[in-house]
Parts: sequence; structure tokens; C-alpha cells
Amino acid sequence: MSSTEPPEPRSQHCLLALESSCDETAAAVCTLDGELISSRIASQIDIHRQYGGVVPEVASRNHILHARALVEQVLADAGKELGDMAAFAATSGPGLVSSLLIGTSMAKALAVAENKPFLAVNHMEGHLLSPFMNGNGPVRPSVALIVSGGHTMLVHVRETGRYELLGRTRDDAAGEAFDKVAKMIGLPYPGGPEIDKLARQGDPAAFAFPRSFLDGTSLEFSFSGLKTAVLYELPKLDLQNEQTLTNLCASVQAAIIEVLVEKLVLAAKRSRETLVTVSGGVSCNRGLREALTARCGKEGLQLLLARPDLCTDNAGMIAFAAVQRFNAGHTSPLEADVNPNLSLVD
Ligand code: KG4
Ligand code: ZN
Repeated sequence: MSSTEPPEPRSQHCLLALESSCDETAAAVCTLDGELISSRIASQIDIHRQYGGVVPEVASRNHILHARALVEQVLADAGKELGDMAAFAATSGPGLVSSLLIGTSMAKALAVAENKPFLAVNHMEGHLLSPFMNGNGPVRPSVALIVSGGHTMLVHVRETGRYELLGRTRDDAAGEAFDKVAKMIGLPYPGGPEIDKLARQGDPAAFAFPRSFLDGTSLEFSFSGLKTAVLYELPKLDLQNEQTLTNLCASVQAAIIEVLVEKLVLAAKRSRETLVTVSGGVSCNRGLREALTARCGKEGLQLLLARPDLCTDNAGMIAFAAVQRFNAGHTSPLEADVNPNLSLVD
């Protein structure tokens, strides 16, 4: 009989994370090597669509309804049990307090019951590191563009946990600009994917919408002027005309894309990094992905885009960020509070 190494304790292999910062309840299991092995999302989009946006009270009630079943499902999908988890993590901010409390309370309860550590994860760090998932790791020096419904920022990543803010939006986030324009022209919530679809049939040069701070020097963003420009244009337009509608969508999208792409390239040059990453809900946008791929190729920049299903809110990215922290020796106290304004950089 050959001698074998004693098996590693089963509890050392995986980590379970919950995400409930806004309107998606999500759970995921990730190995401590960073491989996502199960991930599920209970979307509330259909519920909030009738209100034209997220209603916090409704969101937190639905998180309560879904959290437990999601945990059971992702464990079953992964062929694991609670006892196999090395730690339990949850998003602790930024987000809606009443929503954040559901995921963190659940993860803390599981950590106490299983006598395992708890990790509080910054939602933006989840987005930030998501391009390094699916075999694209390890996390390494790069310039990141995070474009979501609540944030638009450029971040210099030195290593996990060492981030410097290079620029951010002074008003609306890119996703917010998509959603607000969509609402103004009668498209359902969330507006980003709707504009993305219609833009494919339109002419991006039909309307000359403003590109704020695109002077080749600033890394700040502003999207409120775009919203106002669309508002002034609307009375002149017949949106029942399909071509007018698609041209408007294509032109709005082109204005947002150009600013995002140019500032990412500028930030990379300034930071002397050749690796750039893009994440967050807006990075699902097909036009943005195509423009980034073309421009980065031209500039000799290596581009890592978050996988489309990991762009919008999910627990896989939270589990992955938690694994990076856990492997570096970090855990959080059970007293760790949620923080609706939690910052990625100090
Ligand atoms: O990252 P995310 O799921 O949630 C936040 O953390 O905010 O981002 C949601 C945002 C929404 O504003 C939504 O309209 C936008 O991402 N979004 C898109 C697309 N898919 C989602 N924007 C443009 N094109 C898309 N395909
Ligand atoms: Zn998000």
C-alpha cells in the first residue's frame, strides 16, 4: 500500500457569499483557488419595473424571501454542504441599508452556526476584481474602469486591496444616464439593455450629444449634460418613428461610450499600465465592448472584460473578492456594520 498525504480538511476548499446590495438577491460558492463553482441570482427586476426603479422596502422584503433558498441551491449545485465552507461572506456596502442587512445577517448567522469566519465585502471591489475571474487571474497591476448603475470610476489597481482613485463622475453614473434617458423616452427599467438593443439599428452620428470633460486631460466624468441635451431634443422628435427612436438611442450610447473609452485609455497612459479592465453593469453593453476591443487593440493595451453574466450584480464576484481577501489572511468581526456609502479607496 502506498503512503498518501492526509486529506486536506474538507472545510478548507470553498467559500459561500451573498449579495443583496440593491435589487438582486444572489448567492455563490467559489473555491479558495478562485474558481466559481455555483452562482444563482433571484432577480427582482420584474417587481421593480412597475415602479420605474428600485423601491428599497420592497427589495429588502424580497431578499428575505429568497436568501435561504438561494444558499441551499448553490450548495446543492456545487455538491457541497455548509460544513464544507471555509468562510461566509456578504456585501456590506455600498448599497441600500435595508437590503445590505439581509445578506450580511444571513452570512453572519451561517458563520456563527458553522463556527467559521465572516468576511464583509465591498460591492465595488467585487465589480473591480470580476475581470480577473474565469482563469484571468491573478489580480495584477492595471487600470480599471467600473461602470455600474451607481458608480463610474477609474481606479489604479496596484494589488488586491491597494487601489487609487484616478477619476469619477461628478453627477450621474453611466448606468444612471442610460436608465434616465430610457425613462424619458418611455423604455422600461432598467434602460441600459433596452438602449443597447435599439442602438444596434440606429445611426450613432444622427444627433451630436455632449461629451463632457473630453479634453484629453481630465479623468473626471459628467453625464447630467447628456440627459439635459436629450430632454431639449425630445419635443422636436417623433419617437413613434422607429428610425428616430433607434437613432436617438445609438447617439446617446455613442456619447457615453466615447467618453468611457477615451478616458480609460488616457488613465492607462498616465498610470503607465498596459493592462486595463472593465466591469459593472454597463460593461455588458455590446457597443462599449466592441469599441473597447478596437481601441485597446490600436493602443497596444491588454483588455480584460468581465464576463457578461458577471457584469451586472451577482454573488460570484463577491465570493471571488472574498477569496482574495481570505487568502491574504483577512476576516471581518461579526460586529462589522453595513455602510451604504462604503468607499473603495480611503
Ligand atoms: O452593476 P449593476 O448591475 O448594479 C449596480 O451596482 O449599480 O449595474 C446596473 C446598471 C443599470 O444602470 C443598467 O441599466 C446598466 O447597468 N446596464 C446596461 C446594460 N446592462 C445593464 N447599460 C448599458 N448597456 C447594457 N447592455
Ligand atoms: Zn453593482
